[in-house]
Amino acid sequence: MAGHNERLSDSMEFPPPTPQPNVYPLSWHSHTRKLQEVWEASLRENWDPEKLPWDTLDVDSYTWEEREAIAYWWTLLSVFDASAPPVFAEALIKTYEVHEEDPVRKCFFSVTRDEQNHEIMCGLAITRMLGHPDPLSYQPKTDLGRRLQKNAKWLYFNGGRYWSGYKQAVPKYDLAVLFSSFLMGEIAAATIFKQMYDNSREAVFKEGFKNIGRDEGRHMAICMAVMERDYPRMGPENRAIVTKQIRAGYLFLSAVLFEPPMDFWDLPKDFIANQREAEEVARGAGFGIPSYEAKKENWRRAILNLKGVLDTYHIPFPAIPEVGVTGEEVSDTAMEDIIPVF
Ligand SMILES: [Fe+2]
Ligand SMILES: [Fe+2]
Repeated sequence: MAGHNERLSDSMEFPPPTPQPNVYPLSWHSHTRKLQEVWEASLRENWDPEKLPWDTLDVDSYTWEEREAIAYWWTLLSVFDASAPPVFAEALIKTYEVHEEDPVRKCFFSVTRDEQNHEIMCGLAITRMLGHPDPLSYQPKTDLGRRLQKNAKWLYFNGGRYWSGYKQAVPKYDLAVLFSSFLMGEIAAATIFKQMYDNSREAVFKEGFKNIGRDEGRHMAICMAVMERDYPRMGPENRAIVTKQIRAGYLFLSAVLFEPPMDFWDLPKDFIANQREAEEVARGAGFGIPSYEAKKENWRRAILNLKGVLDTYHIPFPAIPEVGVTGEEVSDTAMEDIIPVF
């Protein structure tokens, strides 16, 4: 490390240029007005999951099966939302490394904060419903609870494989590519939380869904604004990657928005039956998980929305025959290829 103590300032009037990419931009350019507006909205709409009316939740009014079934849904959501803070934190670092304009950096900071709120919300709901802060080490009280814990362990295992792939993907891809994957998650998230809000009767959950849904709407607006800025000049190579990532996003996010495709998710044979049983119990207890048909329709609509956006930029859309959407054939997608987040 000879160069380390060398005093350049003794021999030069100005320092040499800083090698790039350098993690910090010393500039605050602002070109995209819409992003500044979303940032300001995120400050106005800030909320604290711990301040929701938790005292109105009487867990003893639920049976243990109902408690375990509802906690299972929050656990399933956590597989996506508990990974979101580090996922967006990584993307936030990238916005600094590539010296993104100031409102993009601010927006990514807000998404990271929001996603941590969502994860905190999951934790509060699970801890209350189970009387234990960790669904994997919890002692199940019912037979359904035992089968759901097995489901949760498999979900956790699958989600873990996604993180290592994501970490490799972030430096490799342009922000523009990352955004298309994010958008997929955000469109879908905004719709599911609206449905959960409409169909749930427990006040504290309703309040949480309302706030999360509003956050997701802002995340969607961020993605749209950056796409509008960058997509018109996107090269053909990136366009092809976007098509592939949309298909990957469908496979990944289906686990929470629809049902996990079994050739992509490594899950036991009884997984879906257990999950359906839990959803039935949770619905019976006034917890608004949409029915199979409603989920499918919701997911199909979200995908068609996204297709509408990508069509504007002439980006080929992948075939998603599972929900009746035609397009370009994309095969051989693995968990390691996944960028999307929720
Ligand atoms: Fe979220
Ligand atoms: Fe989000």
